[in-house]
Amino acid sequence: MKLVFIFLYLILSLHFESSEAKCHKNTVAFQNNLTLSKSVLKVHCKSRDDDLGDHFLRFQDAAYNFSFHDHFILYTRFKCILSKGANLEYHKTFLGYEADKYRRCGALYAWEARDDAIYLSTKDEPIKLMYSWDKD
Ligand SMILES: *[C@@H]1O[C@H](CO)[C@@H](O)[C@H](O)[C@H]1NC(C)=O
Ligand SMILES: *[C@@H]1O[C@H](CO)[C@@H](O)[C@H](O)[C@H]1NC(C)=O
Repeated sequence: MKLVFIFLYLILSLHFESSEAKCHKNTVAFQNNLTLSKSVLKVHCKSRDDDLGDHFLRFQDAAYNFSFHDHFILYTRFKCILSKGANLEYHKTFLGYEADKYRRCGALYAWEARDDAIYLSTKDEPIKLMYSWDKD
């Protein structure tokens, strides 16, 4: 009986490893394109398990990004807060990433902060306006 479990465990972990190797991580990226204000952009994302801390991007800095695999059982989500303005008085909280029923592999969610609003593009979708800024 015990042997059956060990055998099952081996099969499952082999399967897990090979699908992990084939499934590229998903990436969420943030870009400061605050063309007019040239404001600093503050990015703070967290999931159930990880708090990624504060990141500050100057105008046209290289994108800040992070990558991860979708969780097998629990829906992976990253809640993000973007802030801009001289006193970071403009901000928006939203889901920077939310898993679907199907496990995604190699997805790219590219968020772009512009003066008027926050935009998103993905591998499949051209850039579109998603959220406007809230002000204190
Ligand atoms: C920056 O935003 C402007 C519009 O404000 C847009 O035309 C331009 O393509 C954006 N640049 C980048 C690098 O995304
Ligand atoms: C993510 O950041 C790395 C460097 O930190 C960069 O080389 C890579 O091009 C970035 N990827 C995206 C999708 O922005």
